[in-house]
Amino acid sequence: MKSLLFQLILTSFVLLNSDNNVNAGVTSVFIREEYPSKDIPLDNEVFVVPTGHNSPQQVHITQGDYDGKAVIISWVTADEPEASKVQYGTSKGKYEFTAEGKMTNYTFYKYKSGYIHHVLVDDLEYDTKYYYKIGNGDSAREFWFETPPKIGPDFPYKFGIIGDLGQTYNSLSTLEHYMQSGAQTVLFVGDLSYADRYQYNDVGIRWDSWGRFVERSTAYQPWIWSAGNHDIEYMPYMDEVVPFKSYLQRYPTPHLACKSSSPMWYAVRRASAHIIVLSSYSPFVKYTPQWEWLRQELKRVDREKTPWLIVLMHIPIYNSNDVHFMEGESMRAAFEEWFVHHKVDVVFAGHVHAYERSYRISNIRYNVSSGDRYPIPDKSAPVYITVGDGGNQEGLAGRFRDPQPDYSAFREASYGHSTLEIRNRTHAFYHWNRNDDGKKVPADSFVLHNQYWSSSLRRRKLKKHHLSSTLGRIASH
Ligand SMILES: *[C@@H]1O[C@H](CO)[C@@H](O)[C@H](O)[C@H]1NC(C)=O
Ligand SMILES: *[C@@H]1O[C@H](CO)[C@@H](O)[C@H](O)[C@H]1NC(C)=O
Ligand SMILES: *[C@@H]1O[C@H](CO)[C@@H](O)[C@H](O)[C@H]1NC(C)=O
Repeated sequence: MKSLLFQLILTSFVLLNSDNNVNAGVTSVFIREEYPSKDIPLDNEVFVVPTGHNSPQQVHITQGDYDGKAVIISWVTADEPEASKVQYGTSKGKYEFTAEGKMTNYTFYKYKSGYIHHVLVDDLEYDTKYYYKIGNGDSAREFWFETPPKIGPDFPYKFGIIGDLGQTYNSLSTLEHYMQSGAQTVLFVGDLSYADRYQYNDVGIRWDSWGRFVERSTAYQPWIWSAGNHDIEYMPYMDEVVPFKSYLQRYPTPHLACKSSSPMWYAVRRASAHIIVLSSYSPFVKYTPQWEWLRQELKRVDREKTPWLIVLMHIPIYNSNDVHFMEGESMRAAFEEWFVHHKVDVVFAGHVHAYERSYRISNIRYNVSSGDRYPIPDKSAPVYITVGDGGNQEGLAGRFRDPQPDYSAFREASYGHSTLEIRNRTHAFYHWNRNDDGKKVPADSFVLHNQYWSSSLRRRKLKKHHLSSTLGRIASH
């Protein structure tokens, strides 16, 4: 009876909404010929090894602390070990400061990695352009990056979101379009190189080629990493059974700065955003380290300082594609209630090789006894966005569930990337940009209203309105 009533309420809600067309999701019928889903051959110029003995290659940076005053600079030297040293300063060619870090190397099957360098450069000034130099003599190379503004509620900042990138011509197209977007930091939602599609020594070789491929962006701005299933590389047939071995050797994260016990899950604050990175492939059920950490981290979120609360993960919680359908249920069961309670603004995921955006919905009333089981519109819930469309060799996930579920606002099986341009504490502009015959075409966009500030401002406005109309009434009497 109770569930019947609930059904009735839900049905009338859906009817009401479809009346004024709020809830009519769009399945885009756009179809284009893509490049064949094949990796770019190793001798292509996109993978070129820089000239010079032991020249630094695969240069990439990520945020190095909690608040954006540090970066970790990483690179590989292929020929021999050398000091992990970064020279840097605020004007080109004048390197007043030096930072030193650590060198590491590993084997994968019979592949021996190059010498992998990780250097923490900290105590930086906010909002400043830094130039840096790595390597020795004629083989030295120079790059630059810009630090974000200090933590505060109204600093504009533009993020890019990329997932499931790989190293095909489609990946190249995504990367080039992203680089034209003017975004300042990448939020990467997992599955980096797809090197695990290879066997034996080619796995390591394809990690190296990917590092050189993305260097055009990763050497100049931080990519905030999260890992996906293609980064696990559990390959017992060649005695490789340590999960995320290559990934962890190559892509460090600042997890200690946020008291996380693992580089796989962590948080950073950047300008007006608090970004939480979760690991879909590490334990997260109740009482596990990731669960305990997230519970504490959510308490540290201060929306007065960082109004925007963003969560990254690999497996989408809401996905209406046939591919990976319902794989996110376990994490939904673990964390959805917290996301709603803490008013997360947006959850970005990858995994499904297509694009999809949800309405604000939740299914936290799901109850295995009572029968409540449908997602319902929920103003406190995040928007869920899947951007697994970077363009890797597995191709697109073209079959969506029919009919389109009520929670799905827009979906399209094309390659592309997204940008989230934060303007101030209340407004952010979101775009999904499809790769369309070499052009970047905005195909889905909306204004994201901040969950915390929009509602409290609204409340204040209401109060003011109420007060003035009451005063008005008193005055007219
Ligand atoms: C790391 O490099 C050193 C020096 O070349 C070498 O002796 C060692 O075997 C390498 N370690 C691994 C795990 O490959
Ligand atoms: C689930 O439903 C049952 C039966 O209606 C109810 O007794 C119980 O309190 C519900 N549990 C939760 C966690 O809401
Ligand atoms: C935030 O930016 C939006 C869009 O530019 C603007 O309309 C709004 O008034 C701004 N809000 C605040 C509180 O400054």
